[in-house]
Amino acid sequence: MVVFSFTPLAGRLFSLLFLSNAVFARPARSTVETQGAVLGRSDAPVPPDSLGLVSSGTDSLYFTNITLGGLQLMVQLDTGSSDLVVNLRGRQLDVNNSTNIHVKAQYVEGEADGVVAFADLQLGNVTISNQAFLNVTDLTNFNTLGDGILGVATTNGSTVFHTLINSLGEDTAAKLGQSPMQSLFTQRPDLASTFDLQLGRSNAVGDIVPSTFLVGEHDKNFEQVVNAPQLPSFSGAHWSAPMDHMTLNGQNFTFNSTILVPPGKAAAALDTGFPFPLIPAAAVDNIYSSIPGAMRNPQDDLGWIVPCNASTNVSFVFAGQDFFVHPLDLTIPTVTQVAASDGSMHNSTICLNTFHGYTEMPGEFAGFTLILGDAFLRNVYASFNLATGAGPFVQMVSTTPDLSAAITEFQTKRSADLATLPPVLDPATFIAMTQANAGSPQTPSSASQIADSAATPTQSAGPEISNGAAQLTVGIHGVLLGAALLPLVFFM
Ligand SMILES: *[C@@H]1O[C@H](CO)[C@@H](O)[C@H](O)[C@H]1NC(C)=O
Ligand SMILES: *[C@@H]1O[C@H](CO)[C@@H](O)[C@H](O)[C@H]1NC(C)=O
Ligand SMILES: *[C@@H]1O[C@H](CO)[C@@H](O)[C@H](O)[C@H]1NC(C)=O
Ligand SMILES: *[C@@H]1O[C@H](CO)[C@@H](O)[C@H](O)[C@H]1NC(C)=O
Ligand SMILES: *[C@@H]1O[C@H](CO)[C@@H](O)[C@H](O)[C@H]1NC(C)=O
Ligand SMILES: *[C@@H]1O[C@H](CO)[C@@H](O)[C@H](O)[C@H]1NC(C)=O
Ligand SMILES: *[C@@H]1O[C@H](CO)[C@@H](O)[C@H](O)[C@H]1NC(C)=O
Ligand SMILES: *[C@@H]1O[C@H](CO)[C@@H](O)[C@H](O)[C@H]1NC(C)=O
Ligand SMILES: *[C@@H]1O[C@H](CO)[C@@H](O)[C@H](O)[C@H]1NC(C)=O
Ligand SMILES: *[C@@H]1O[C@H](CO)[C@@H](O)[C@H](O)[C@H]1NC(C)=O
Ligand SMILES: *[C@@H]1O[C@H](CO)[C@@H](O)[C@H](O)[C@H]1NC(C)=O
Repeated sequence: MVVFSFTPLAGRLFSLLFLSNAVFARPARSTVETQGAVLGRSDAPVPPDSLGLVSSGTDSLYFTNITLGGLQLMVQLDTGSSDLVVNLRGRQLDVNNSTNIHVKAQYVEGEADGVVAFADLQLGNVTISNQAFLNVTDLTNFNTLGDGILGVATTNGSTVFHTLINSLGEDTAAKLGQSPMQSLFTQRPDLASTFDLQLGRSNAVGDIVPSTFLVGEHDKNFEQVVNAPQLPSFSGAHWSAPMDHMTLNGQNFTFNSTILVPPGKAAAALDTGFPFPLIPAAAVDNIYSSIPGAMRNPQDDLGWIVPCNASTNVSFVFAGQDFFVHPLDLTIPTVTQVAASDGSMHNSTICLNTFHGYTEMPGEFAGFTLILGDAFLRNVYASFNLATGAGPFVQMVSTTPDLSAAITEFQTKRSADLATLPPVLDPATFIAMTQANAGSPQTPSSASQIADSAATPTQSAGPEISNGAAQLTVGIHGVLLGAALLPLVFFM
């Protein structure tokens, strides 16, 4: 059974408040006229042809608009799956064909049942004709904010394709059942077979960096991406790359190899469907224990509570190149209620780890050592190449090349963010208060235990709260078809 990972629920595109140019090492952008609007505030214009990508809430999941059979839909962009899955909720569209071929798309969290249909799919000004998609009839444990999921991985990972082989035969499936991106480049040989993503960063105050989603071209400010090392993507269902190691304050941390990658490398999925990366528990402990004042979350074996203004120097190394993690991406401010000694409840802000630990990978990620989700991906401009020939590969340029500048920016932006939130508690005080008050609410969990599907209620520090809006899902959610189940965290 093919399994896909898919992007989690609440998407977030980039919303960044002006990242300084120093941080991005690129000149001020000049022009605008975005075809796909960028949600939220963005002072750095995205490239004119960007298809539009926005995050839901505080950098949770990333969404883009598509037009399917004339109907505009907002779908989650997922580099960890290969099918277009849409929940029409009764809306009609112009189909080219409908079938009663049943498909069950499984994700790390939940599954979508439906039937295969075909319609013209527009991404910005590009039209893919007669694209196969899953018309959802039934959702199980599936909770997405948008209208569905656009899986942008290769046909090899497509559940629709594999189902069509069984029903219509290989030749017809190969003609009609390609994944959206593969259909696009098959139909448009005039275009370079690439799509580029830069996930934006936001905080409660607004956008810091906008998101970019380009098809067949590169952002003028990142054209050097064509010269970056070609990292072979070794798994059809998930965009991925072999990783050298992690560095922590200049020290190497080496991961175990698996059969998916050459000896000495670690198999890393690059999955926009995971707001929070999933890495070995030992690596999580390594990262967060290096932050002075950080403490283990007493109610989450794999989680950490970290002083909100503190950070550490982490990079992931691909083909000998460092990709630093911006300190803003290492921890997430989270609002929770704490009981004071008189029993009264108070909203407080604490900061939790964004790199989550696992003791066992979700099944569909067998052979992977890391799932580098959005908290990592915001630090790269990535070009995904569906080249035929040698096979798909990824090229990446760092968007956090200057760690000193990022640390300076962290201090400013994090302070501004915290100023809009309830009082901050340092980890020791928070833990002492929660332990002194039996019966107080649970410590928010970092949602890292895959087997534990219970959602842990906490509050997000995202803009939704300051706006008084209702509910934001910031969980790890990983997925549409076939991904393993990860718990959601609802920040309400
Ligand atoms: C999608 O379309 C809606 C409605 O036209 C618009 O408000 C939103 O900004 C668009 N989102 C993106 C990511 O372009
Ligand atoms: C699919 O449907 C659209 C809209 O009805 C139409 O314009 C297009 O020609 C059809 N494509 C095929 C291959 O029939
Ligand atoms: C429509 O789908 C059916 C399978 O349900 C297939 O037999 C038929 O050939 C398709 N028609 C076209 C025009 O693709
Ligand atoms: C989309 O439109 C832009 C500007 O109008 C153009 O530069 C670009 O090449 C077009 N993209 C495609 C794939 O046609
Ligand atoms: C999607 O499925 C529903 C339920 O089976 C059906 O009523 C609807 O016409 C289908 N829509 C398309 C576009 O195939
Ligand atoms: C697709 O999968 C098959 C078998 O799993 C493999 O041989 C082939 O190289 C893959 N193709 C791509 C483009 O990943
Ligand atoms: C880390 O690994 C790289 C490449 O394997 C090596 O060149 C470098 O010397 C190592 N650094 C340390 C501090 O061990
Ligand atoms: C590597 O494998 C060994 C043996 O299975 C295990 O003890 C160790 O924790 C693993 N290291 C990492 C970083 O996963
Ligand atoms: C964080 O804030 C605390 C309390 O205000 C202060 O003592 C500490 O030095 C700050 N740490 C950093 C790294 O700025
Ligand atoms: C905590 O914050 C929530 C959301 O803003 C608010 O509804 C609630 O009243 C606050 N609780 C307290 C005790 O201040
Ligand atoms: C972290 O990186 C900054 C910027 O390069 C550097 O000034 C600082 O000394 C580093 N900290 C550690 C503990 O290596």
